[in-house]
Amino acid sequence: MLVQIPDVLTAEEVRHCRQVLERSQWVDGRVTAGDLAAKSKHNLQIPVDSPEAEQLGDLILHALGRNPTYNTAALPFRVLPPMFNRYDTGMTFGTHVDNAIRTVPGTGGMRMRADVSSTIFLSDPDEYDGGELVVQDSYGSHSIKLPAGHMVVYPASSLHRVMPITRGSRWASFFWAQSLVKDDGMRTMLYELDLAIMETRRQLSDNNAAVLALVNHYHNLLRRVAEL
Ligand code: NI
Repeated sequence: MLVQIPDVLTAEEVRHCRQVLERSQWVDGRVTAGDLAAKSKHNLQIPVDSPEAEQLGDLILHALGRNPTYNTAALPFRVLPPMFNRYDTGMTFGTHVDNAIRTVPGTGGMRMRADVSSTIFLSDPDEYDGGELVVQDSYGSHSIKLPAGHMVVYPASSLHRVMPITRGSRWASFFWAQSLVKDDGMRTMLYELDLAIMETRRQLSDNNAAVLALVNHYHNLLRRVAEL
């Protein structure tokens, strides 16, 4: 399931991220890539343990916390501290898969499973050419290029790539979540059920017996499949 979520960050938050990133140190992005992915990765990142990454990572986590769509789509259990990358003209990231297991920085080696990948765009589409995130699933390839502050959420199990930048520079935040529901198909069903419940609540009153039964059903399904 691929979900686009608009306005995860306000314009002011995007501006703030950009200002902090402009004065940050940028290093070769291969430091956080798996062995195979590193071969096709050509971009820049700010170090995960830098004060800028920590400060902006908190800002992103705060924004995720207030976003009901992210929470129902990803059902996050743990979110790896957000990272920040940049593709200047000529940079690209060829087709790859993200590592299944990641070590959470600053925890003495705690590991988590990466189920859900997210990218929050920090550049507007008119600031660069190329740079689309292309995600492959069983229905084909999806090309994504969103306004600054918008986010795309997709299964970490997908093959994906970032097309070469032919003009300008593309800045973004990216991160992984371990979901309460590791299976993408099950997570998709729960998400669609939740959307249907929200629409049903809009059309019927909250004390309608059918609404209550559906909400009960949602929670009992989640109880059955959630892993903590
Ligand atoms: Ni990736």
